[in-house]
Amino acid sequence: MSTKVLVAYATKMGATAGIAEAIGTELRAHGHQVDVLDVTSVPTVAPYDVVVLGSAIYIRRWRREAVQFLRRNRDELSERQVWLFHSGPVGPDKHQAQELPPVVRRLARQIGATPPMTFAGRLEPATAKGFLAGRLATGNLAGDFRDWDKIRTWSADVSAAISATQPSTPDWS
Ligand SMILES: Cc1cc2nc3c(=O)[nH]c(=O)nc-3n(C[C@H](O)[C@H](O)[C@H](O)COP(=O)(O)O)c2cc1C
Repeated sequence: MSTKVLVAYATKMGATAGIAEAIGTELRAHGHQVDVLDVTSVPTVAPYDVVVLGSAIYIRRWRREAVQFLRRNRDELSERQVWLFHSGPVGPDKHQAQELPPVVRRLARQIGATPPMTFAGRLEPATAKGFLAGRLATGNLAGDFRDWDKIRTWSADVSAAISATQPSTPDWS
């Protein structure tokens, strides 16, 4: 049986959803059974062996629905492998790893999640939502900085770690 993985994401302008889809594609290519879902449409993590959770960062915070997901599912998540990522830095800071907001760090510790991976984000006029985002999307922060190679490499590392720890199918031959 392959491992059942949930890739859940919290997004405002869609960039983090795209990253989650790319992670899902890579994990499937490595033989895992994967659902990629907006975090608000996950009723329970019970069906999953492993959870990958990602949030966009706004003003150094995670999206509220991602924090609520961690809180709501804290006990179930602490019994599963949990991998975290966040998407944020754009423009000249695109390579800058971001710290977890304190509230998320506390929850991540309680759950026993792995330290987060930072992926660069996207801020473009066509997808910007809100006045401030629209303004920022015209300056030197503008662009799609998502690094698909980095996302694929991280996903492959996650896959290898999952395969190393989940029980493998017995070989009856
Ligand atoms: C108002 C605003 C505040 C932001 N604050 C941060 C921040 O504190 N740290 C960061 O790394 N990125 C920050 N960003 C960049 C976003 O995280 C980035 O655009 C991200 O890819 C958006 O993800 P989404 O499309 O999934 O919502 C901010 C963007 C906007 C518009």
